[in-house]
Amino acid sequence: MVVRERTQVGIVGAGPAGLILSHLLALAGVDSVVVEIRSRAYCEARQRAGMLESTTVELLRDAGLGDRLDKEGLEHDGIYLQFAGERHHMNFRELTRGRWVTIYAQTEIVKDVIAARIADGAALQFEVSDTEVARLDEDKPVLRYTDAAGIRHEVVCDAIAGCDGFHGICRPSIPRGGLHTATERTYPYGWLGILAQAPPSTDQVLYCRHDNGFALHSMRTPEIGRLYLQVPADEDIANWPDDRIWAELKTRLEVPGWELTTGPVLEKSITPMRSFVAAPMRSGRLFLAGDSAHIVPPTGAKGLNLAVADVAALATALTRLIRDGDPELANAYSDHCLERVWRATHLACWMTTMLHVNPGEDPFEAQLQLAQLRNLTTSRAAATMLAENYTGYTPLRYDPRTRLTPAAVWGSVALSAQSPSTLKLKLQWKCPRAAYLSG
Ligand code: FAD
Ligand code: DHB
Repeated sequence: MVVRERTQVGIVGAGPAGLILSHLLALAGVDSVVVEIRSRAYCEARQRAGMLESTTVELLRDAGLGDRLDKEGLEHDGIYLQFAGERHHMNFRELTRGRWVTIYAQTEIVKDVIAARIADGAALQFEVSDTEVARLDEDKPVLRYTDAAGIRHEVVCDAIAGCDGFHGICRPSIPRGGLHTATERTYPYGWLGILAQAPPSTDQVLYCRHDNGFALHSMRTPEIGRLYLQVPADEDIANWPDDRIWAELKTRLEVPGWELTTGPVLEKSITPMRSFVAAPMRSGRLFLAGDSAHIVPPTGAKGLNLAVADVAALATALTRLIRDGDPELANAYSDHCLERVWRATHLACWMTTMLHVNPGEDPFEAQLQLAQLRNLTTSRAAATMLAENYTGYTPLRYDPRTRLTPAAVWGSVALSAQSPSTLKLKLQWKCPRAAYLSG
């Protein structure tokens, strides 16, 4: 038996992209069905990102998802950069005249949005199987899945959002010729990440280049540390007992007068690193968002932030398309997102290659990395470039009550590109009740 249903937007994937999209659409009065292959508990526990751009924080607040984030998030002025045994603080708030970053784990964002969606009575299906998307070139594409009880569903939609990550089914469902570009670069290393019952030894996130390889000291709460080590791409986690992890973290991170606090390792895993961009991010009525369309290596902390930027733009575009019958923003969606995606792809690739040690790296390469790091820590212009890119790009805005003309939206984007610090004022002047807007 197949249960036939109807919704406005079928969303594949309950990661941050799919969940936040469904929430933003609901605020605009647009219905969606979200299907997810994993269990709710798995989605809420999957350890990944932690660093949020100030623009992401502002969007979550504006969407009513900021309560716990404001109580428990750790707001930081900047980061530390360490190399050749020297540690330097990069004060992004000062360099950007006010932008900051916040540590708040992706697991917590996922919990917050799931709770909000369920409280709202949303159609959120976990543990589905055999997800399929079809009729993408028609006005009524379909989403098919088998629910946790084994019942097959066919949902007729106005649009489908592929928010199913890099390994999902949506991108491969695009008909031959639909993707013009799929650019990929792999790196000969990965990150071994641990979550540890160890109070962070640093007050802000610390990125370190060491001759043994990259290390990163982040945190989740004042009691829980999150730390990463560069390891070979094909490394077996079995080669890394906890004692070896801590010893290597100490070797790479410690400087005279500063010791790393250790503690029980709660979780550990290895993540491969790649850059990937699929374009366009749309095929007919299928729209890709987040990791399903692009992957960055985690060094610049961009992946989750890009996913949020995509769905802010997509919620706007789909609302205009479905509620108002206006396709203009939907048609502009891919180009609009890809501009930000390529900027973040550059930042992530640049930070990765500057801070990681290539297997067989020669002294010439090592000196080039050190020269770039010295430039960043001695030139205000270079530091400002890092600060602007790291803390986020133009603001994301969302107001489901307002019907905007595309000219007002893109006019505001153009203004923001000229003068980020005055964007809010100009936005209010141009569109009195703010905007659905992703810059
Ligand atoms: P995902 O989180 O991958 O969600 C996709 C969902 O789709 C999953 O739940 C999956 O189970 C589901 N799915 C897949 N196939 C199907 C199917 N066939 N049917 C139904 N559902 C399906 N980003 C940052 O911005 N800041 C950071 O500090 C940062 N740190 C990171 C550290 C690490 C170690 C890693 C690995 C990543 C980090 N990232 C960071 C990146 C960030 O975690 C990802 O970019 C983010 O998860 C993307 O969200 P998404 O919703 O697009 O995809
Ligand atoms: C974290 C992850 C990152 O990729 C990064 O660049 C900074 C922090 C984190 O997990 O906290």
